[in-house]
Amino acid sequence: MSRRVLLAAARSPQAQRAVVAAPGGRAVVERFVAGETRDEAVAVTDRLVARGLRVTLDHLGEDTVDEDHAAAVAAEYAGLLRALDDAGLARRAEVSVKLSALGAGLGRDGAELARGHVRAICEAAQAAGTTVTLDMEGHTATDLTLETAASLRATFPWLGVVLQTYLRRTESDCRDLLGAGCRVRLVKGAYAEPDSVAYRERDAVDRSYVRCLRLLMEGQGYPMVATHDPRLIAIAGALAVRAGRPQDAYEFQMLYGVREDEQRRLAGAGETVRVYLPYGVDWYAYFVRRLAERPANLAFFARALVRG
Ligand code: FDA
Repeated sequence: MSRRVLLAAARSPQAQRAVVAAPGGRAVVERFVAGETRDEAVAVTDRLVARGLRVTLDHLGEDTVDEDHAAAVAAEYAGLLRALDDAGLARRAEVSVKLSALGAGLGRDGAELARGHVRAICEAAQAAGTTVTLDMEGHTATDLTLETAASLRATFPWLGVVLQTYLRRTESDCRDLLGAGCRVRLVKGAYAEPDSVAYRERDAVDRSYVRCLRLLMEGQGYPMVATHDPRLIAIAGALAVRAGRPQDAYEFQMLYGVREDEQRRLAGAGETVRVYLPYGVDWYAYFVRRLAERPANLAFFARALVRG
């Protein structure tokens, strides 16, 4: 079954039910997702922190359909931040948010609506003593995300942002984010983008990653190296040493359930490692994307579809 066919099949609600109903299905989902509730997310955060890791929590959800939904997402993040604080985890755990989940796509006033919600989430994070990072979505949202981050950083200088190295513009965006305190999470990029804006070849994306890493490591900000790629992890370590950065002046980040051996190895070597931990009832699309990234993960899923 090709990745494309699988992803198409995976959009059906029947497929979602089949995964949950399959023997061992819940365990496979839980490999990548903390659970559906805030309490489950806090419990997994607690376990990761006890292992010496840091966490960034993502409340899963795409395609916010109305203003009430956007407000509910913002309220969930505020509640989560209070829960992390109450559990004594806020110094080790922050949150990641998507503008689209906060209403950015809702008509002419969507951008302003989303900005207001990010501000409220930042206030809740500040009260808890932690930080927020803006996820980056498809290329049509890049300008809005960077503008939102820039405008809110005047009040919340620790507000981080994701840059995607498959985009041709990203090296230039990196140069704008080299100042003291700038928190940049560097990723390869996960959306289907046209040639006109993005590199297609893996090598070109990787070379762009290294160019951006070099800039960030030599800059004054705080680079967050978000990749599972062993070659890029090694290069990041070497560039940090060359730039004279101590281990607490940058960090590695990986997705929950992916390369946990490497997460442990890096943390054991004294590196700061942060795990991106998603939770929420809308786990299905995220889960299928993770499976599709790795052929070895697909066998289970295909079996569940056939049986379901
Ligand atoms: P690559 O995909 O080349 O993988 C390198 C190696 O890692 C593989 O060979 C394999 O060994 C291992 N691996 C990767 N994925 C695996 C999986 N699912 N299961 C098992 N092994 C796997 N994207 C985006 O567009 N916007 C965003 O805001 C974010 N945010 C984000 C935060 C964090 C903390 C991370 C780690 C990633 C993101 N991403 C993202 C996703 C990112 O763009 C990218 O799609 C994935 O990280 C996969 O790319 P890698 O850099 O890991 O390399």
